[in-house]
Amino acid sequence: MTAAVEHTEEHRGAFSSRKVFILAAIGSAVGLGNIWRFPYVAYENGGGAFMIPYLVALLTAGLPFLLLDYGLGHRYRGSAPLAFRRAAPASEGLGWWQVGICFVIAVYYAAVIAWAARYAFFSLDKAWGDDPEAFLFGSYLQAGDPGIGLDFVSGVTVPLVLVWVAVLAIMALGVQKGIGASSVVFIPVLFVAFIALVGVSLTLDGAAVGLDALFTPDWGALTETSVWIAAFGQIFFSLSVGFGIMITYASYVGRRSDMTGSGLVVGFANSGFELLAGIGVFAALGFMATAAGTGVDEVATDGLGLAFIAFPAIINEAPFGALIGVLFFGSLVIAGVTSLVSVIEVVISAVRDKFEMTRVGASMAVGIPAAVISITLLGTTTGVFVLDIVDHFINRFGILVVAVASMLAMSWVFKKTGLLREHLNRDGSIHLGRWWQWLVGIVAPAALTFILVNEFIDNIREPYEDYPTWMLNTLGWGLAVAVLVLGFVAARLPWRDNTFLGDPEIKSRQDERSN
Ligand code: PHE
Repeated sequence: MTAAVEHTEEHRGAFSSRKVFILAAIGSAVGLGNIWRFPYVAYENGGGAFMIPYLVALLTAGLPFLLLDYGLGHRYRGSAPLAFRRAAPASEGLGWWQVGICFVIAVYYAAVIAWAARYAFFSLDKAWGDDPEAFLFGSYLQAGDPGIGLDFVSGVTVPLVLVWVAVLAIMALGVQKGIGASSVVFIPVLFVAFIALVGVSLTLDGAAVGLDALFTPDWGALTETSVWIAAFGQIFFSLSVGFGIMITYASYVGRRSDMTGSGLVVGFANSGFELLAGIGVFAALGFMATAAGTGVDEVATDGLGLAFIAFPAIINEAPFGALIGVLFFGSLVIAGVTSLVSVIEVVISAVRDKFEMTRVGASMAVGIPAAVISITLLGTTTGVFVLDIVDHFINRFGILVVAVASMLAMSWVFKKTGLLREHLNRDGSIHLGRWWQWLVGIVAPAALTFILVNEFIDNIREPYEDYPTWMLNTLGWGLAVAVLVLGFVAARLPWRDNTFLGDPEIKSRQDERSN
């Protein structure tokens, strides 16, 4: 059986050092969420005062849960399904559930990157004209009424194909040469480009007005539940925990590594980037409000509206508009690609572990269908609606649910957190006490459950946006349930006979002793 372990360890791939792992993990964490989600969430939920619930969420739930993911991946040395399987056979389905969610996210996340790439070029000659909103939905996306339309929009399909080609090339190159090497290049470039963007934004007229709007604390917000919900929600999404990503990446790190210290570096780098994004985005929004003679509240938004409507308007007016455009959309593309790579790796790694496929084989077996679905669904006139609905539901009723389930399962059903704590402490520079188990077993799942119940009630009371019910029932609820069911079905497929399904750590200790 020794051969089987060594076989997988060698062939699965590995990061060449802890530094590369940290960069790849930062690449995953720093995504569109940091740039277009955090600034508005902070602004809406107490401004400067939001920092308090945000830090509480980071320290009591985000980082502890990140370390649980690291512990699982690092100790059990497998993709999400294999790591769960090795921890406790009955939990394998959790891993496949995450695999399903990641596949879905990859399909639509790629489209946003494609739009951003196209918009980087549009900013050179402000191709969106005077009315960026009409341009986005009209000339660019050619979105009609929500429903099924299968007319391809070449402005989307062409960059989308290019995004997939680039990403599949990275995936096929493997853990170190693909994911690791691209992170080593992209992450520093991203930080430099973004700092330059913030620098330019701060020189704009009205930047201070924007920063005031963002940072002026509304202490009253601290008594509102919705503010705390927003803080925990932002932290979980932003750290990429619960996707299976961190389990997968941690499985590629050398056996004797400081995982707790790494977690702290990743967590703080990610939050630092969010803060930076807040400054850059609100400085620009302050400029826009000042130029239009309105308040910042009139112009502040998030998501697609911020990136593809507000920023084009800012670029139209600002000195160095084209430069701002290239830096902003370029940052979105890089931040997006390194996150996209991480979600697809969850799927590829799982397929490889279970079916013993080669790197290139699995990359194509996963990537080509994902690309085809992505291009057919999102390259068409319906794309933007599909994206909006799937994103809304899978983030809540996919990721958050699997996150709670995995914390409770590991803490209370299979009782693995004690062992994982010991494991993380062995080489960790930050000592985890029993308090860590309480955070992962009680505080974090309680916070998440609370968020989920709230979200569930909201979504039942008031169906999301004005979409037709059948669309919400299929692409929203239906898809969220389907990945769960498919996940537990996939877990019933047999592993190869030579796949080692025990605890690799115990095995390696026995091997050392017998040598
Ligand atoms: N942390 C990522 C972000 O902020 C979350 C994410 C990871 C989303 C991977 C999609 C894919 O965008």
